[in-house]
Amino acid sequence: MSSKYNLPRGTFDILPDVSYKWEYIIAVFKNTAKLFNYKEIVTPIFEEADLFERSSGETSDIVQKEMYKFTDKKGRVFALRPEGTAPVVRSFVENNLAASAGIQKLFYTGPMFRYDRPQKGRYRQFYQYGVEAIGSNHPYVDAEVIALFYTFIQKLGLTEFEVQINSVGNAKVAERYDQALIEYFTPHKDELCFDCQTRLTKKPRRLLDCKVKRCREIGQAAPVMLDYLDEECTSHFEQVKTYLDQFKVPYSVNPKIVRGLDYYTHTAFEFLNHKLGAQNAIGAGGRYNGLVEQIGGKSLPGIGFAGGFERLLLSMEEENLFSGEELIPQVYVVAIGEKAQAQVASIISLLRQENISVEYDPDKTSLKAQMKAADKIKSLYAIILGDDELERGVVTLKYLQERKQIDLAISDLSSYIKS
Ligand code: HAM
Repeated sequence: MSSKYNLPRGTFDILPDVSYKWEYIIAVFKNTAKLFNYKEIVTPIFEEADLFERSSGETSDIVQKEMYKFTDKKGRVFALRPEGTAPVVRSFVENNLAASAGIQKLFYTGPMFRYDRPQKGRYRQFYQYGVEAIGSNHPYVDAEVIALFYTFIQKLGLTEFEVQINSVGNAKVAERYDQALIEYFTPHKDELCFDCQTRLTKKPRRLLDCKVKRCREIGQAAPVMLDYLDEECTSHFEQVKTYLDQFKVPYSVNPKIVRGLDYYTHTAFEFLNHKLGAQNAIGAGGRYNGLVEQIGGKSLPGIGFAGGFERLLLSMEEENLFSGEELIPQVYVVAIGEKAQAQVASIISLLRQENISVEYDPDKTSLKAQMKAADKIKSLYAIILGDDELERGVVTLKYLQERKQIDLAISDLSSYIKS
C-alpha cells in the first residue's frame, strides 16, 4: 500500500512496536525526576519567536538556521519551540513561581522542532526529556542535576556513555576569553568558513562549535576557557566536582565543551555515547545564571539539562536492553456460537470493570481461529463461552501457559483471574 501523503522529512511515526519502549523510557525518566523531587511542567509547543531569538542568541545555529517560524492570522510571529529551557523560564517568570519557597525543580518531556539536515539521531521533530532547577547558584545543585541525569541513564541499564563537564565561566571571564579567541583566530580569518568569519566579530566562542573541517582543525590549538577562569568560577567548578564524587558520578573534564546556546554560565556538561556516530550527545545542559533576568524575571540563577529520547532508544537497542513490556491482555475471550457471540459484550464489560484487560475479535468465529489468536498474543487466560454454558451461567477458564482448565460460574471469574 502506498499512502497519498508522506511524513514531513525529518519526522517519524512512533508505531505500536516501538511505542511501548517509548512509554517505558518516559516512565523511567518521570520516576527518576520524582526521586529527586522534581515536579512536572507542561508548556505550549509554540511561543513568541523572540523568546528563543533572544535567549538562544542571534548567532546560534538554532536561531540562524533551524527555527520553524510562522506568522499567525493577527500578524504575531511565533516559533515551534526548538528547546525547552526558555519556555520553562518564561513560565516561571510569568506565573511568579519564584514566590514559592526554595528552588523550583521542574521536569518536562515533549516534542521540539529544529530545521536541520536529518540523519541518524537527528530529526526535525524530536522528543526531549529535561529538567530545570531555578533559584540557586549552589554548586551542590549543579552536581545534583548531573546526578539525576546519571541515575536516569543507569536505571535504563545503559553502560555505553560518558559524562563530560566543563566550566564556561561568567560574563566577565567570557569577555576576556572572547578577546583571546579573537587574537588567536584573526590570523586565520581567510581560512575560516563564511559563518565563522561573522562569528569572529559577533560571538567568537561559536567558532569552537563549528562543524566545518578546516574550522575545527584551526580550533584544535585555540585557548581554552578553563585557563581564563577567575577565582569565583574556579571555586564553583571545584565544588561541583567534589559533590559529583560524593554522588558517585564518574566524569572527565573536557575543556572544549562550548554549548550551542548563548545562555550558559559556569558548569556545562554533555552525556555522550560514542557508539552512536556523529550525533553522539544523548543529552546536555548547564547553568544559565542570566537567563531568568533576561526573560524579565528577577536576577535568579538556574541550571538544567535536556536529552533526546530517540538517541536513548538507539543506545538501548544497541545494547540490547529492552525491558519495556509490550502490552499483553490478560484475557482472550473465545465465543462459540451465535448466542454466545451476541452476548459476549456483557461478560467483557464485567471483566473490564474489574480492571482485567481483555481482547476479543468479533471477526473470528471458530474455536480454532480464536485459540490460535489467544496463543499468538500470549495472554495468560482464555475464557471460552459457548451457547450451552451461557444458559447455565458458566464459562471455561483456560490457563494458557499451564494447559489446564476449569469450569466456573460467571460471577466467580474475576476472583480467579486476580488470584
Ligand atoms: P541541546 O544541546 O540543544 O540543549 O539539546 C539537548 C539534547 O537534545 C541533545 O544532546 C540531543 O540529545 C537532543 N537533540 C537536540 N537536537 C536534536 C535533533 N535535531 N534530533 C534529535 N535529538 C536532538 C538544549 O536543548 C538545552 N535546552 C538543554 C538545557 C536544559 N540546558 C539547560 N537546561
